[in-house]
Amino acid sequence: MALLAELTHRCPLACPYCSNPLELTRASAELETADWLRIFREAAALGAMQVHLSGGEPLARADIVDLVAGAHEAGLYTNLITAAVTLSPGRLDALASAGLDHVQISLQDADAAGADRIAGLAGAHARKLRAAEMVRSRGLALTLNVVVHRHNLDRIEELIELGVASGAGRMEIAHAQYHGWGLANRAALLPRADQVRRAVSVVGAAAARLRGRMAIDHVLPDHFAARPKACMGGWARRFFVVSPQGRAMPCHAADTIPGLAFPDLRRTPVAEAWQEAEAFRRFRGTGWMPEPCRGCERREVDWGGCRCQALALTGDAAATDPACALSPQHHRMAEAVGDATVDAFRPRRF
Ligand code: SF4
Ligand code: FES
Repeated sequence: MALLAELTHRCPLACPYCSNPLELTRASAELETADWLRIFREAAALGAMQVHLSGGEPLARADIVDLVAGAHEAGLYTNLITAAVTLSPGRLDALASAGLDHVQISLQDADAAGADRIAGLAGAHARKLRAAEMVRSRGLALTLNVVVHRHNLDRIEELIELGVASGAGRMEIAHAQYHGWGLANRAALLPRADQVRRAVSVVGAAAARLRGRMAIDHVLPDHFAARPKACMGGWARRFFVVSPQGRAMPCHAADTIPGLAFPDLRRTPVAEAWQEAEAFRRFRGTGWMPEPCRGCERREVDWGGCRCQALALTGDAAATDPACALSPQHHRMAEAVGDATVDAFRPRRF
């Protein structure tokens, strides 16, 4: 369905929940423009419908307008996932002319002080709100995305009001996922159970109230769940990620799993990577599953949850995701919540 193009790890922000790896890729190792354009064409030929241009900050690529144009010419629906603090009116006009379909802007909190503290950049929040207005005024589709955690979850009403005021067609309220920098900062980010209960009720009521005006997607946290989510819609079923240096992976954290060799798209065609690479086949479908997943009626609903979370919490990527109450390791989720007593987080930096 979609290619998630991590164009770069460069970013002006320092969000502590970033899913990028702790070892960030330097600009000198990033793919060239021509590599990306070929990847877009090959992905479209394979049947992909969308490209999500992400990072890091995709606007850090000097060739971002050419990349949008190339993706658009390949027939892909183009979505720019941006922090937006460096988005100028001229650049947005150029992106729109190149065929950009949709912009997703991240917000860090409802108020400037809290947001700029998480982003690690003074003035970031105000610039994001101006960028959202620019996107709207050009008639481009706009989603606001907020990663929520212990430090901003108590302002969920204000965040939703900000989304409404911005005129966004869609808002994604996603509880932090604990990969990369997020995993390193988990003890400082995990919310309390009472915060999560309240958020579920507030977001549910707002989604009903705003139906037809602004759609709200609520991505719930695994740590208070009884069943896992189908991470990435199932391993290598709908999405593939390409890292800044051209590694094809089924998800953004897959390279934390030892023993998997990910195809280098500088040398390997996209179709070959998707269809034949051992790393893509390893957890595709249900054949790899242990019990209790193997005999479970939900095995083709959640596909056993998240392989990277299973690895992070049990040391075994082939284990049932501990987010599942049927997993013998389910207690690890509660242990992580119990350990979440740290207040200071480590900003994402090179
Ligand atoms: Fe999903 Fe496996 Fe849990 Fe069944 S046992 S709900 S398939 S994670
Ligand atoms: Fe890798 Fe969930 S993040 S499978």
